[in-house]
Amino acid sequence: MSSRRRTAAAAAAAAAMLLVLTGILLSENLPAAEAAAGGGELRMKCSDDDYSYNHTLAHILVQYASAVYTSDLTSLFMWTCPRCQGDTKGFEMIEIIVDVENCLQAFVGVAPDPQSIIIAFRGTQEHSVSNWIEDLFWKQLDVTYPGMPEAMVHHGFYSAYYNTTLRHEILKSIRWARKTYGRLPIIVIGHSMGGSLASFCALDLSVKYGSQEVQLMTFGQPRVGNPAFAAYFNEQVPRKIRVTHQNDVVPHLPPYFGYLGEWTYHHFAREVWLHETTVGNVVTRNEIICDGSGEDPTCSRSVYGRSVADHLEYYGISLHSDSRGTCQFVIASNDMAYNNILEVDRTIILARYPQELHAVESI
Ligand SMILES: *[C@@H]1O[C@H](CO)[C@@H](O)[C@H](O)[C@H]1NC(C)=O
Ligand SMILES: *[C@@H]1O[C@H](CO)[C@@H](O)[C@H](O)[C@H]1NC(C)=O
Repeated sequence: MSSRRRTAAAAAAAAAMLLVLTGILLSENLPAAEAAAGGGELRMKCSDDDYSYNHTLAHILVQYASAVYTSDLTSLFMWTCPRCQGDTKGFEMIEIIVDVENCLQAFVGVAPDPQSIIIAFRGTQEHSVSNWIEDLFWKQLDVTYPGMPEAMVHHGFYSAYYNTTLRHEILKSIRWARKTYGRLPIIVIGHSMGGSLASFCALDLSVKYGSQEVQLMTFGQPRVGNPAFAAYFNEQVPRKIRVTHQNDVVPHLPPYFGYLGEWTYHHFAREVWLHETTVGNVVTRNEIICDGSGEDPTCSRSVYGRSVADHLEYYGISLHSDSRGTCQFVIASNDMAYNNILEVDRTIILARYPQELHAVESI
């Protein structure tokens, strides 16, 4: 595509986004702006027929997605934090990574049920979730995914996983866990912005370890790439569920416009839409298994997505920071449960296994 056409497409995208923004902010009664904007539907071949949604599993995994927001790293490591109860009992932490500079947090550990290595990413920790959500409107598709010339993603999401300490530490922890516990399957989880990081991580691990070894479940994640990226993702990561909740605004962003071809964001499949309906006094909780397109117009796209409250709760579990400040954390430094606390390049690592300083520094 020539640079002139690129510019034109980008301008069209910007104009269209402005329309959606105005529509969502000003109008109560217009039909869902996004649904109206998305003319041509892209149907993708469904390669994940053998992988199905499991409600019990989702209900367990959302609790890990909630726990990763814990700012008291000692209780998180010991798995004694208030969010470390319930169905996740017996979880053994292997490593917590906090990238203070970029305000990112993730952990790797081993779960008893389902017996697996769990990797969880925290969502945005910024002061105002609403500000972060507003910014999502304007995210450009500005990076070509390596080895996939047609696949475009957002640079910020991409580099939060690939160009920070997270990836290096996660790969190290998986190697150690598999050496220690055997060849356990891997489950990657994240909420919100953490869902974007989890997606890139699952893609990375699927390519590295084989797609049958890796499962992905995200809650209220934004779109991360264009249709070519979604198609590539569907092929490489067949075992994945992207849960959306009622009117959660974030899965609607950055916007999808069918007529922009490859110059629009496009979700990967398979969405599961948590949807409550009220008839009289009876509230019915529906879990709708959406089609294989990634942009099923009968799922979350069938409603206005502008609820922040719906974004912060999935399956009745709170998914947000437990501290008021940006990027706060607490560590009891004399606790011997973890081998190491390191601060290298503004990254804090708590690990069950010995850390090699030079390995961290070489990033
Ligand atoms: C669903 O997940 C739960 C928890 O891991 C597991 O015990 C159960 O066997 C799964 N059900 C199916 C049908 O796979
Ligand atoms: C990776 O991070 C470094 C340091 O934060 C930065 O200078 C560099 O531009 C980043 N590269 C990419 C491709 O984002």
